[in-house]
Amino acid sequence: MPQRICIIGAGPSGLAALRAFESAKNKGAEIPELVCYEKQSNWGGLWNYTWRTGLDEFGEPVHGSMYRYLWSNGPKECLEFADYSFEEHFGRPIPSYPPRAVLHDYIAGRVEKSGVKKYVKFNHAAKNVTYDSKSGKFTVAVKDLVANEVSSSEFDYVIVACGHFSTPNVPDFPGLAKFPGRVMHAHDFRSADEFAGKNVLLIGASYSAEDIGIQCYKYGAKSVTFSWRTKPMGFNWPDGCKEVELLQRVEGKTAHFKDGSSQEVDAIVLCTGYLHHFPFLEEPLRLKTRNRLYPPQIYKGIFWWPNNKLMYIGMQDQYYTFNMFDSQAWYARDVVLGRIKLPSFEVQAADINKWVAKEEALEDPFQAIDFQTEYVRDLLSATDYPKLDVDMVAKLFKEWEHHKVDGILTYRDRCYPSTLTGTVAPVHHTPWMKALDDSLEAFLNQPGTAAKVA
Ligand SMILES: Cc1cc2nc3c(=O)[nH]c(=O)nc-3n(C[C@H](O)[C@H](O)[C@H](O)COP(=O)(O)OP(=O)(O)OC[C@H]3O[C@@H](n4cnc5c(N)ncnc54)[C@H](O)[C@@H]3O)c2cc1C
Ligand SMILES: NC(=O)c1ccc[n+]([C@@H]2O[C@H](COP(=O)([O-])OP(=O)(O)OC[C@H]3O[C@@H](n4cnc5c(N)ncnc54)[C@H](OP(=O)(O)O)[C@@H]3O)[C@@H](O)[C@H]2O)c1
Repeated sequence: MPQRICIIGAGPSGLAALRAFESAKNKGAEIPELVCYEKQSNWGGLWNYTWRTGLDEFGEPVHGSMYRYLWSNGPKECLEFADYSFEEHFGRPIPSYPPRAVLHDYIAGRVEKSGVKKYVKFNHAAKNVTYDSKSGKFTVAVKDLVANEVSSSEFDYVIVACGHFSTPNVPDFPGLAKFPGRVMHAHDFRSADEFAGKNVLLIGASYSAEDIGIQCYKYGAKSVTFSWRTKPMGFNWPDGCKEVELLQRVEGKTAHFKDGSSQEVDAIVLCTGYLHHFPFLEEPLRLKTRNRLYPPQIYKGIFWWPNNKLMYIGMQDQYYTFNMFDSQAWYARDVVLGRIKLPSFEVQAADINKWVAKEEALEDPFQAIDFQTEYVRDLLSATDYPKLDVDMVAKLFKEWEHHKVDGILTYRDRCYPSTLTGTVAPVHHTPWMKALDDSLEAFLNQPGTAAKVA
């Protein structure tokens, strides 16, 4: 019997796994049978936009956390797939900070080209994964959402690639229950338009707070207040935006903060992050972690300890994204194909502890970038993934950090060179603050060049 691999999720991480195996097959390797279950009707994961919130048409929790007007918050040159450049996909260089639809097009373009769609079962939600140590096999129960039928089959390996930015972490604050305005989590935020003319309060001091806050500002909010728990973001905010200490209570429309200040607010967005949530995995297989650069209990950030036949891709907090998922997928593939032999569980545990200790000693984002660079470099050094200049990626990430400090409203107007082709991205036709149309067509319509939509 050929070996069978189950991949749960067809977002960038699951697609990286499919692409990794396909690439080995194209070079003549025999690969196991691949089955990828994706609960949405299309691939691309979070990049596959949905207007829905709450439950979907099948009663499943909506996966999407992205919103209209979402543009990449890092330079595309830092996430470029080493085997598929942006230039190859779009037929010409494009600016460094594309909106969501453009990145979705890029992600989909690579896998359309490599023909892996045949492995994906769309509208199939993984419901239960168990492992039988006697047979050494996993049983995976999935629900065909359209047919409304559950079926089970056996696999030798399971790759969990379901993402971890979909189940919201929703703290409570005194007075929220009686607040007369809108309260939502970032997961349910879809459009800044509804906050035009409003005083908006965002709880949290990370990427969602920062980006949803400046979206609201861009689309006409009257004021934007960011409320932090551990540390302010510290950007040079424009007039009308400010940072305050943590929300203590809400009385009517007045929000009271730990620093003693208060603010009238019309809407509150909880940008308080997400939970790693795997309800479909039986308890002994479940990764339990907060959002961090090195979740414990997965060797090389991939292999469940101590059952290496269960693999996780993309479970880290992310500077690196698409190309890190690729580096994990190529490594996981080579373990499955027997090209890389994993060490004893003792050695694995020691290695995990070493990385976790290193992560815990990190003091600032620059060190964090170096840490994740080392992680990706370590994985890449063991496989035939095409050359990726991670030192240059790290350099670009560090420039990006400085550019954000220089101007939180202008950093997306910067241009960076591709680490693959060396081409410096062209300047976008419209400064980001004035670019209100985030469609792929508007973005690609650079003056003097014909738009090519792949
Ligand atoms: C608001 C937001 C903005 C972001 N912006 C950026 C950005 O600008 N740049 C960047 O590089 N990264 C960004 N990210 C990070 C993002 O995590 C990655 O880019 C990427 O989408 C992660 O890929 P993934 O495949 O691991 O997870 P996901 O993209 O979440 O995909 C997981 C897939 O698994 C499927 N799935 C889940 N559960 C099941 C199940 N039980 N059965 C079957 N299928 C299932 C989902 O439907 C989904 O298709 C952003 C994240 C968020 C939340
Ligand atoms: N393209 C884009 O522009 C864009 C936009 C949004 C998000 N993203 C991506 O989405 C991912 C998730 O980002 P995220 O900001 O949602 O999550 P995150 O990075 O995990 O940050 C969570 C934030 O919530 C705060 N928090 C948690 N519990 C809290 C509580 N009880 N009270 C107050 N604050 C609390 C944390 O504060 P502490 O520091 O105190 O713990 C932290 O600031 C990132 O990968 C990011 O890149 C990208």
